[in-house]
Amino acid sequence: MRAEHRVISRRGFLALSAGATAAGLSACSTTERPAAPVRIGPRSPQVAAAERARRGANVRTTAVKLEATEHAVDLGGTQVITWTYGGELPGKEIRVKRGDVLKAELTNALRRPTTIHWHGVALRNDMDGVPVVTQTEVEGGGRFTYEFAVPDAGTYWFHPHVGTQLDTGLYAPLIVEDPDDGYDYDTELVVVLDDWLDGLGRDPDAVLADLRTNGMPMGHEGMPGMGGMPKSELLGGDVGDVTYKHMLANGRTAAAPRTFAAKPGQRVRLRLINAGADTAFRVGVPGVRMTVTHTDGFPVVPRMADTVLLGMGERVDAIITVPNTTVPLLALAEGRDSYAQVIIQSGRPVAAAASGPAAKQLANLSALTVGDVEAAEPVRLPDRTPDVMHRLVLEGPGEKYDWTINGKAYNPEDGLPVRQGQRVRLRFENKSQMFHPMHLHGHTFQVAGRRGARKDTVLVLPGTAVDVDFDADNPGQWLTHCHNVYHGEAGMMTVVSYEE
Ligand code: C2O
Ligand code: CU
Repeated sequence: MRAEHRVISRRGFLALSAGATAAGLSACSTTERPAAPVRIGPRSPQVAAAERARRGANVRTTAVKLEATEHAVDLGGTQVITWTYGGELPGKEIRVKRGDVLKAELTNALRRPTTIHWHGVALRNDMDGVPVVTQTEVEGGGRFTYEFAVPDAGTYWFHPHVGTQLDTGLYAPLIVEDPDDGYDYDTELVVVLDDWLDGLGRDPDAVLADLRTNGMPMGHEGMPGMGGMPKSELLGGDVGDVTYKHMLANGRTAAAPRTFAAKPGQRVRLRLINAGADTAFRVGVPGVRMTVTHTDGFPVVPRMADTVLLGMGERVDAIITVPNTTVPLLALAEGRDSYAQVIIQSGRPVAAAASGPAAKQLANLSALTVGDVEAAEPVRLPDRTPDVMHRLVLEGPGEKYDWTINGKAYNPEDGLPVRQGQRVRLRFENKSQMFHPMHLHGHTFQVAGRRGARKDTVLVLPGTAVDVDFDADNPGQWLTHCHNVYHGEAGMMTVVSYEE
């Protein structure tokens, strides 16, 4: 808590803080120019009021301790030293019930500053974990307690919002159970997918520095080529910017996968989370169709699918019926000729290596994408014409691997103004050769168009535009950015800024 006050000395923060400071500034302005709009900052009374409204009478508090710490991790025969929550990869899942207050005490045992962002949760703005915008970074050796009401059920996750830390082992699931869930399944399998390079020669900071120094080396149009990154039809262009040694499912390579013990006929709710930094995954179970039930935590009209596509940051829940033979759940790194897997063991054990041919076949099956699903009726936004629309033109990479929104690299003092109570439309227009999973903090938008899915991260393919609508009901300063961590760090972020 004490640490928060240091942020006030930062120049950038003056513009962001509301309440006393900013109100005071505009009050003593004597020029004829209209007073600068006042941002509703993370510690404003509006944020506190929104939080009060979220808390019921007898809220239960779930308290957890999290330690960000450097640790040895076994990826399955390959040992790496990396950054983790509590020494585990993925970090230990947090499970709460809708309406609970989550109190997470972070101890930063790293030698670098960090924060935690609670991806997808419509939480109070001052707990959102964004340096400068919502809090001061938690210094090495420091602590910070995140405490917030969790208003919506669903599959979420958490990760740092500092530099490229997301591409280390700092990630874990946050599962919010719905007390009114029909529980139309017998058991759950949470699968966290990741593209891995840390501890194997080049760490993520070195990768970003290299991209920044040499520009885009992997064959984006007009850039110096080194053979070029592969392309994917499903992604409409380049598959990524970074080469990874391994793809992981729940912390393991495909060669040494985790096993999930199941019984034939059981209905398993899969909770799939893409924690990758630069990789989209196509997920499926050969010979078993999935019923997709949720996107980014929110229910959809159930849809059958052979495979589903998940961009970075996205989640999908799907139900499968376990067959009477052992099968792999495969996560193909889209367009990259590599995959991760979890073995669903309901019959005789099967060697991990046996999945190779199945992975090839799976790549030829149809993939469900966001345009194929509709929000379930109870979570559809009521029809309303947007009060304000902001275009976000996505471009890059520039000469120094710059990725921009409306021609500008990230500056926390810039923003897209909105007012509480407005229906807001964001129009993401991708003018680059690569897909961008665009994420909005603190809100779950609806993909515009007939009954679009509720999501917080949406894939925007090259040459396309995607409109998303949300109701501005959670005051504060909220990042919106590409969830490719390298794009985000190279500038593709901005702030949706509530103003008085
Ligand atoms: Cu999952 Cu701003 O991030
Ligand atoms: Cu991007």
